[in-house]
Amino acid sequence: MAATEPHILILAAGMGTRMKSTISKVLHPVLYRPMLHHLLDVASKLPHASLNVVVGENREQVAEACAEYKALNYVDQPSPRGTGHAVLCAREALQKKGGTVLVLNGDVILMRPETLSAFVESHAAKGAVGSLVSAQFKDPRGYGRILRDGAGRPLAIREEKDCSETERQVSEINVGVYLFDTDALFESLERVQTGNKQKEYYLTDVIEILISRAESVNAFMIADPTEALGINDRLALAEAERILSGRLRAYWMREGVSLQVPETITIDSRSRLSRDVQIEGNCRVVNSSIESGVYIEAGCRIENSTIRAGVHLKEGCYLEDSDVGPNSTLGPYLHLRPGTRLEAGVKLGNFVEVKNSHIGKDSKASHLSYIGDAEVGADVNIGCGFVTCNYDGTNKHRTVIEDGVFVGSDSQTVAPLTIGKGAYVASGTTLTRDVPPGALAIARLKQTNKEGFVARLKSRKKKD
Ligand code: UD1
Ligand code: CA
Repeated sequence: MAATEPHILILAAGMGTRMKSTISKVLHPVLYRPMLHHLLDVASKLPHASLNVVVGENREQVAEACAEYKALNYVDQPSPRGTGHAVLCAREALQKKGGTVLVLNGDVILMRPETLSAFVESHAAKGAVGSLVSAQFKDPRGYGRILRDGAGRPLAIREEKDCSETERQVSEINVGVYLFDTDALFESLERVQTGNKQKEYYLTDVIEILISRAESVNAFMIADPTEALGINDRLALAEAERILSGRLRAYWMREGVSLQVPETITIDSRSRLSRDVQIEGNCRVVNSSIESGVYIEAGCRIENSTIRAGVHLKEGCYLEDSDVGPNSTLGPYLHLRPGTRLEAGVKLGNFVEVKNSHIGKDSKASHLSYIGDAEVGADVNIGCGFVTCNYDGTNKHRTVIEDGVFVGSDSQTVAPLTIGKGAYVASGTTLTRDVPPGALAIARLKQTNKEGFVARLKSRKKKD
């Protein structure tokens, strides 16, 4: 096995007690994705011989949440007895394979792939048997400390709870990322005891054991401490999101995207943005693709959607599972629900809701409408307050509005029905059947005016 292709072992079986949650810690979302997905993405980018995850009673939850990662090998840890015990549970899976193993704590997800690559290379370059990643923290509370001798060589990792007063002053912390020669790792793990404050088998004790066997141990200090965050509680979870979000925003700004008041904008790691996209404050972009020149005003939320070039989203739009055609103008305050597909140049104004519908090129609904389960053609003009009555209490029905139709304000279509090409629908009409192409449909009471009615009413009231 080449030294550069380690087996990867992710430790994810812990209880995550400090999260105070029924959800497994590694599945808590960080920027709209389970924590573990971020780590699996990074691990997948590194050359590796196999990818293994230690799980416990969260096995089902984890396997379900990570089903899209096909090449994962799950290792069971029957009860969480410490990080050393977790690794020992992978003995059968890993030892016969030999080589090296990169051990990653499941709650340390902000390491960059290039940092991990450099770590793996330094292990090989130093000819080390064991390597660990360390970082300098202004506030090292909660982390294991790296103890070094007078010459600066690593001696041991000491868990905070087991530290003396002087040891607690050390600001170099153990990140929770290690690389070991597989045989040496398991031989040392056999010697790990539970004589510590937490009565657990600590993986970190392996370092001291290797040193006592005169094996060479390499401590690799990283420059950017934000990569070293371990997510133990909800505060660290929020901090991880803040860091990741900041990195993604910086990335997109460098790629030619303008963000106004950037710290209020969230772009998740699956989203793709093109050049000259401009986004105002308080927007969320989740698993979406935004093409060039799109302008997004403040307070928009875009999920699982594609926004084509030149679209203008006015303030407060909420888009879910939708595809918006080029040069369309939407909003302010509009809702596209799943299954909405808009062709080029569509104009939908304030308080318009569209669901599971296709709207053709250059069609408009400028104010206050609900369009659900509809096929709307090109050049259709829908007036104010139009509603597709698509639901009969049991089933949903489709409305078809063909090219060039004009629908007057305050109209409804009781689906299923079709309005033929070029037809007109008079204002205030409730359609209950098809309209032939080119026809005018009108369905409302004839107006009657009772002359002098108000005066007569008032004089009658006076007499009473
Ligand atoms: C661990 C390190 C500490 C380091 C810190 C970095 C040990 C003993 N301590 O502490 O030196 O500074 O990470 O973030 O390793 N896990 C299991 N099975 C278990 C216990 C834990 O799979 O029986 C998993 C957890 O799910 C977690 C990871 O191992 O993903 C680390 O465990 P955690 O309890 O968070 O360790 P820390 O106390 O943070
Ligand atoms: Ca931790």
